[in-house]
Amino acid sequence: MIFYFSGTGNSKWIAQQLAVSMDDNTVFIPSVLDTPNFALKKDEKIGFVFPIYSWGIPPIVLQFIAQLKDELCENRYLYFVCSCGDETGLAPMQFIKSVEKKKWKCSAGFSVIMPNNYVLLPGFDVDSDEVMRKKLEEAPNRLQTISSLLRESYIGLDCTEGSYAYFKTKLIYPLFVKWGISPQKFYSTDMCNGCRRCEKVCPTKNIVLVDKSPEWGRKCTSCLACFHICPMKAIGYGGATKNKGRYFHP
Ligand SMILES: Cc1cc2nc3c(=O)[nH]c(=O)nc-3n(C[C@H](O)[C@H](O)[C@H](O)COP(=O)(O)O)c2cc1C
Repeated sequence: MIFYFSGTGNSKWIAQQLAVSMDDNTVFIPSVLDTPNFALKKDEKIGFVFPIYSWGIPPIVLQFIAQLKDELCENRYLYFVCSCGDETGLAPMQFIKSVEKKKWKCSAGFSVIMPNNYVLLPGFDVDSDEVMRKKLEEAPNRLQTISSLLRESYIGLDCTEGSYAYFKTKLIYPLFVKWGISPQKFYSTDMCNGCRRCEKVCPTKNIVLVDKSPEWGRKCTSCLACFHICPMKAIGYGGATKNKGRYFHP
């Protein structure tokens, strides 16, 4: 069983590719939050696929892991595959610790470099067309390697940690969780044509259209799917998204 979380489709694509090559099923985490019980076959492997957020793990994924029944992964092969624009920081260690709290053991973990979707801070933008194309071209090979290792029940980690990993995960990630995940600054302009794509794509169903324009509730994960999917580029976030690019997995 492959549990996944995804905003702009990179991690969803990874989960689906793994499911095909490992003859497995995918389960979208937001649609099973508060479901602690899953029926697993004997010797079934358990995978978690998610994007990296601020050199850490999206809180919704940690919340999901914490609520699963302790018995679920006892003595099972457990792995993660995370997608990131560039680097994971110490997110792999964070994952390992979060499953150890449940007395489970993480057998393997991998990162896959995918097009970047983070645009909310100065200096952060989507990749150039060329970089995006190169990342999308290289990802299938990387996934083939990962899925054959997973099929053989490989033990180990292969993640792109990047520089100053300790500083980024231990200091910046907590600030992101405290201050960076908020729907308050989202707005839509009069370019909005009421197509409802933002409403449909939101993983936590946090957006509703009121008088033909989106309103954001409190369950935002900061995945930015609404911002990136809008065909009219009508969604913005405070002053941060002026002149920023859009990306959604093709
Ligand atoms: C809130 C947020 C924080 C991010 N932080 C990082 C990061 O620390 N390192 C990184 O390489 N990419 C970062 N990214 C980029 C995503 O991890 C990357 O684009 C990922 O593939 C998106 O997956 P998705 O399409 O499944 O949502 C961040 C994206 C978001 C939305």
